[in-house]
Amino acid sequence: MSTRRPLIAGNWKMHKTVAEAESFIQQLLPLVYAAEAVDLAICPPFTALAAMVDSARGSRVQVFAQNMHQAQAGAFTGEISAPMLTEIDVDGVILGHSERRELCGESDRGIALKLAAALDAGLEPILCVGESEAERERGETERKLRHQVQEGLAKVETERLGEVAIAYEPIWAIGTGTVAEPEQAQEAAVFIRALVASRSPEQAGRVRILYGGSVTPENAASLLALADIDGALVGGASLDARAFAAIVAAAAPA
Ligand code: PGA
Repeated sequence: MSTRRPLIAGNWKMHKTVAEAESFIQQLLPLVYAAEAVDLAICPPFTALAAMVDSARGSRVQVFAQNMHQAQAGAFTGEISAPMLTEIDVDGVILGHSERRELCGESDRGIALKLAAALDAGLEPILCVGESEAERERGETERKLRHQVQEGLAKVETERLGEVAIAYEPIWAIGTGTVAEPEQAQEAAVFIRALVASRSPEQAGRVRILYGGSVTPENAASLLALADIDGALVGGASLDARAFAAIVAAAAPA
């Protein structure tokens, strides 16, 4: 059993108005009140961040953004910076989600800059990595993960590597209902941890590796029981307070 605290993060993507987010959090708070051994975060759209921070204040629920820009400020229309997030007490940020890599052209180099800026600002980053179906079929999973992890962490000081959470999210499992087999998730997590260990074995023991991709209350326990999986990044199932709370409960060590 590892000493790493499990982290369950709900990535709402482009879902929920402020009113819907309010109703979710009021439903969630009593359901997760007792889950003391688990860290949990919700990642609403930018427009609902401030309201969620206020509603979750004093609870065990943290609030993360889904993206940010690496610069402090500047001529970047449509972007949000780390100081804007910390000003309203946002706790962390998802970086390099595959949808942003694919749909918004995010690169490993850009993500590396964002990761360093997030840590500097005191935000807890979740770095997302994962291979496509074609890459897995071609036997290129490790090559892809090596590239994404090494490049993504390139600007993080060695002694701070353990502060980053890394979400292994195979693209073929995201939003498809096809969850990775536990062996596939564990194998990828071991590989990712070894990549961190090549820089610092000590930090590799601290870094939390999450699994993401079609996590549900039904399959969460078998994934969260894996030795090197320290939590989950949950998309669709995080939109429902009961389903999300059930996944949080599955992460609590027996
Ligand atoms: P999903 O999304 O749980 O809906 O598959 C996961 C994610 O994109 O982070």
